[in-house]
Amino acid sequence: NHRYALHKTVVMVGMMGAGKTAVGRALAQLLTVPFLDSDQEIEAAANMSVPEIFARDGEPFFRARETQVISRLLQGRACVLSTGGGAFLSETNRTNISERGVAVWLDADLDLLWSRVRHRDTRPLLRTADPRATLAELFAQRVPEYSKADLRVPCAPPVSIDLMSKRVAEVL
Ligand code: S3P
Repeated sequence: NHRYALHKTVVMVGMMGAGKTAVGRALAQLLTVPFLDSDQEIEAAANMSVPEIFARDGEPFFRARETQVISRLLQGRACVLSTGGGAFLSETNRTNISERGVAVWLDADLDLLWSRVRHRDTRPLLRTADPRATLAELFAQRVPEYSKADLRVPCAPPVSIDLMSKRVAEVL
């Protein structure tokens, strides 16, 4: 058990399928701090799922909500906060995160990401004719932004949730 005071919120960033939510939740348990997830907060406030919000209100609306939610959650006591895969692309979000948190990039390779997202229908950005190609494109565009995170934790095998959360705790 890691028994030290967490002074900054640990913000999980990275691609869809990297394990931000699962690893973030396990990490919060390990550190005995609360776990929060920006997508879940947005969904609860809107009483709609992320795909429904994208379909009804559009991506810009979702991004505005995401920025509000992340900024608000960072005001609270230190915790583990998982964000959606697009959150760290916004400079405003990056600035807010750097002021109150430590950004941890869960760096998984494309094959691992694809194996995790291919059977799920919860990612509006992957509702394209060729979702594998879309994921690859997003990956290529986003890696330079994710590289701006304070810490990078490679998701090299074995990548159990438990092990990943311990790897993150070790570098904090
Ligand atoms: C998004 C990732 C999703 C969700 C939304 C947009 C993205 O979160 O916020 O579908 O832009 O990569 P996950 O990374 O948790 O799938």
